[in-house]
Amino acid sequence: MTIFEAYNSTKKQLEAAGLEDYVFEAKQIIKHITGLSNTEILMRYTTPLTLYQQNNLTAIIKQRIARYPLQYIFGSWGFYGRNYKVGPGVLTPRADTETVIDVALKYLKDKSAPEILDLCSGSGCIGITLAAECSSSRVTLVEKYEEALRYARENSLLNGTENVTCLQGDIYESVAADKKYDLIVSNPPYIPADEMETVSPETKYEPETALYGGEDGLTFYRAITQNYKNSLKKGGMMLFEVGIGESEAVCKILEISGFENIGCEKDLNGIQRVVFGTVKNI
Ligand SMILES: C[S@@+](CC[C@H](N)C(=O)[O-])C[C@H]1O[C@@H](n2cnc3c(N)ncnc32)[C@H](O)[C@@H]1O
Repeated sequence: MTIFEAYNSTKKQLEAAGLEDYVFEAKQIIKHITGLSNTEILMRYTTPLTLYQQNNLTAIIKQRIARYPLQYIFGSWGFYGRNYKVGPGVLTPRADTETVIDVALKYLKDKSAPEILDLCSGSGCIGITLAAECSSSRVTLVEKYEEALRYARENSLLNGTENVTCLQGDIYESVAADKKYDLIVSNPPYIPADEMETVSPETKYEPETALYGGEDGLTFYRAITQNYKNSLKKGGMMLFEVGIGESEAVCKILEISGFENIGCEKDLNGIQRVVFGTVKNI
């Protein structure tokens, strides 16, 4: 079977299994099993796959038909132009979360040596990206679960961010709240109880502890705002990723807590995805 035949066959099988992004996924899978770039694939599309590559392809297609996440199969995924190790026990970085980075970098633009706290850090994709993009910053990651924190440590090494400190801790116990930060950022678990059953089959393989945000999905926003508001420097920013339809309620949480300059930002799909506010600058 040639590379071209393998690509077509993969596409067909994924489409028949009802996978929405079957074209994108087929390309990614062929790149993964051959180790070739897009251009190399175009130049060598008549090259036959080795037996090892064919067996690997068959196994991957089988896993995808069972809706095992492509990110877990590959063991790593791209986020804001860098690679992050992922696997069972950690949420895979989402493209939507890149909006959090855009808003954070805009805010950090004029700050020298900013202190940043990333709560509920998972793979570390938010904090590590900020540490890499803003090399004068010092970034603290807080994650409750060891399995996820292991990925964050590995990802920090992989991306060479020596300005990152990884802490295991619970945001409900105000871990790391004893310092003052320019920016506190979090993409916490935010799925409400009534939506937990309707998440995609792939998301069901991800840890429930990374997804469930309490009965109304807002429990973490209330706790983080309450426990960490006093950990911001004057004029410091609290910045959240929020779930679909949660932006108004999260703005309200910030407003009730006395934040000002409250605002929202849409992701690339036009969904209100980010909510932020600053503490008074006096
Ligand atoms: C939605 S995931 C976000 C991960 C990462 N920030 C990202 O954007 O991909 C939420 C993370 O919060 C962690 N978490 C859940 N409860 C926590 C708690 N009480 N304290 C700290 N982290 C917690 C989960 O393990 C998970 O890694």
